[in-house]
Amino acid sequence: MAPYHLLSSPANALRGDITIPGDKSISHRAIMLGAIAEGITTVNGFLDGEDCLATLRAFQAMGVAIEGPIGQRVVIHGVGKYGLKKPDSVIDCGNSGTTMRLLTGLLAAQSFDTELTGDASLLKRPMDRVSRPLHQMGAEVMTTDGKPPLSIRGGKALQGITYEMPEASAQVKSCLLLAGLYAAGETRIIEPGLTRDHTERMLTAFSYPIQKSDNTVVINAASQCQGTDIIVPGDISSAAFFIVAATLVPGSELFIRNVGMNPTRTGVIQILQKMGADITIINKRLCGEELVADLFVKHAPLEGIDIPAAMVPLAIDEFPVLFVAASCAKGQTLLHGAKELRCKESDRIGVMATGLQALGIEVQTFEDGIFINGGTLQGGVVDSHHDHRIAMAFAVAGSVAQDSVTIKDCANVATSFPTFVKTANDVKLAILEINND
Ligand code: S3P
Repeated sequence: MAPYHLLSSPANALRGDITIPGDKSISHRAIMLGAIAEGITTVNGFLDGEDCLATLRAFQAMGVAIEGPIGQRVVIHGVGKYGLKKPDSVIDCGNSGTTMRLLTGLLAAQSFDTELTGDASLLKRPMDRVSRPLHQMGAEVMTTDGKPPLSIRGGKALQGITYEMPEASAQVKSCLLLAGLYAAGETRIIEPGLTRDHTERMLTAFSYPIQKSDNTVVINAASQCQGTDIIVPGDISSAAFFIVAATLVPGSELFIRNVGMNPTRTGVIQILQKMGADITIINKRLCGEELVADLFVKHAPLEGIDIPAAMVPLAIDEFPVLFVAASCAKGQTLLHGAKELRCKESDRIGVMATGLQALGIEVQTFEDGIFINGGTLQGGVVDSHHDHRIAMAFAVAGSVAQDSVTIKDCANVATSFPTFVKTANDVKLAILEINND
């Protein structure tokens, strides 16, 4: 990824009809389950961002034949649950926490040893949240002071456990579900709050039985995944940048087609609607095990709100751009119960606060949240801290600011939304890639 900055200038009304690249969470899971399934899996709408490609390459390194992505289509020749091979070298998960945390669960149950590493951001992220419960299952996962690199010892017979997760995390839940595919007895995972359930839905798509009730999911090792055809919906986390941009820029009217509407992911729409956004959900339909819809977004004035803590996991990746929305809203927005934001690709509370203050907004931070006093965004220079969602959130900020905003170090946009700038330009946003010197 060649380094570059983004320059985002005040925009005229957004108009158009766009589609958004495939969902990152679903693309990862399609590769993982396709790789250990019996038979062939085709994936259409695969997100060919760097994060999902890291997952794809990891399975290729473990002997799985994977064709593509060619035009967002991937064909996986599943090797079955016990068919993975020891990779020749360390698996590089790049910037992707999902790759590392989910793979750790799967690899803890294999017959061979593996090592996982990642980029500078991933090396700072907590991994004891997966190594701890995996140890209880009998796995041997060595962290480096609770962080990557990880060293996973193979040949361990895993035992199912009942695990009450201390944090609401779909990555931890999914890690344990993947380990549970191999564990003796039942693996029972209890969530403190609802988190994205793509793994559960994907297991069902692969004909693997699981039991779900309220906040508990139970799996055992008795079955096999069967290869299938997966269609990946557009990523609501990527759509969020355009939903907020169209809401904020006067005169905008934008269609966004084929957006994933999984109820564990739609917090961003509910929060924006509570703030006064004009978002119409059209043509809601099933796409395999997932819900999708088309969205019609019109400019609307926003008002600050207290964001309910229960909404946090349902909008966990959308807070950077929601903070931009709050900065342009009339009145005050308050968020608590979101300390998880501090251990994403960057400290998203600290980094957003610094950037918004640089653009003239009054912000206060707490360990678990933020207070934003809505005002007028000024132009300026901000740092993305190599975090894709921070970069795109400030690109949206530049579209409604009084003057241009330069966002430093944006190459990581390619991890989740490689066509972001092109799509932005298609809807008439004035966002440019500029040389980083
Ligand atoms: C993800 C879960 C979330 C989210 C991440 C993707 C997933 O992380 O922030 O971008 O695909 O399971 P946590 O589970 O750590 O909240």
